[in-house]
Amino acid sequence: MKKILLLLAALGIVAGTMPAVLADPATDLKQFQAFFKKKFPTVPFDEFSNGLYALPGLEVYREQWEMFNEFPPYELGLSLGKKMWETPFKNGKSFTSCFKNGGKNIAQGYPYWDEATQKIRTAEMDLNDCLKKNGEPEFTDLDKNQGARVKLAELTAYFYSLSAGQRVKIDISSPGAVKAYEEGKKFWWSRRGQLNFACSNCHMDLAGKNFGGNQPLSAALGHTTAWPAQRLEWGRLETIHQRYKTCNSQVRAKPFKHGDEIYNHLQLYETYMSSGLPLTAPAMRN
Ligand code: HEC
Repeated sequence: MKKILLLLAALGIVAGTMPAVLADPATDLKQFQAFFKKKFPTVPFDEFSNGLYALPGLEVYREQWEMFNEFPPYELGLSLGKKMWETPFKNGKSFTSCFKNGGKNIAQGYPYWDEATQKIRTAEMDLNDCLKKNGEPEFTDLDKNQGARVKLAELTAYFYSLSAGQRVKIDISSPGAVKAYEEGKKFWWSRRGQLNFACSNCHMDLAGKNFGGNQPLSAALGHTTAWPAQRLEWGRLETIHQRYKTCNSQVRAKPFKHGDEIYNHLQLYETYMSSGLPLTAPAMRN
């Protein structure tokens, strides 16, 4: 950790890549994906769903990752998520009753803009809402209560696994969705923390680079497709907001709360930028 901070500080002069002109989401998407196609011309598009393991120069990590995938450490958490999903509520209903198509092949549309509440909704929010509607206790206090957060991550991982291979396709056609998207975009490109780094500095400018031998950096393209994911370092399934918090802390910025609206909007932006990629969650990550 110390090493990466020193190295990043040394590289602190990297150019910002914030697009100069305001563009509509569809144009942003084209530019964003074109950036990575140009930077990594040998990487097939779908491979970007595999995070840093898709990138040239990080083959050693790819080999380790493939070995892990033979007996994925997240299997246990995923099976706990499946059990939660399948266990009937006290009223006899189950999670399938809350979702279109019984929850199958719908995760590619998350997060989404909800006209009724005028908010972006994540899968975690809908799963929690389903508990509430059915008189079951929700998962709360997600920042401090790791146990509750991990359970929610396991449940969400199972939810996403029901849509494995579906291609990311989110609808941001309504004005409210576009506004949320613009906020997420702004957050993505803004520098912050003592290191004064934006998401784009690490996951665009420095994507594919490896620091100090153990901090390879993924490309932003495909960022949301593997989450909830299990990191070797964490040894448990975690939500994407927990990953965001870690990335904020890494640049010595104060992280936002799990479920904060700004993280929902950031997730919306990142997910939209990964449009067309297949879902691979849950997955193993460094
Ligand atoms: C100081 C560099 C740095 C910055 C800045 C940074 N991250 Fe990260 N991020 C990492 C590292 C290291 C990892 C773990 C290796 C990887 O997958 O890139 C990571 C992983 C991730 C992942 C998981 C990728 C995957 O395939 O599993 C996501 C999502 C992510 N970051 C989002 C963000 C967002 C959003 C921001 C801006 C708020 C951000 N990061 C800023 C260093 C950074």
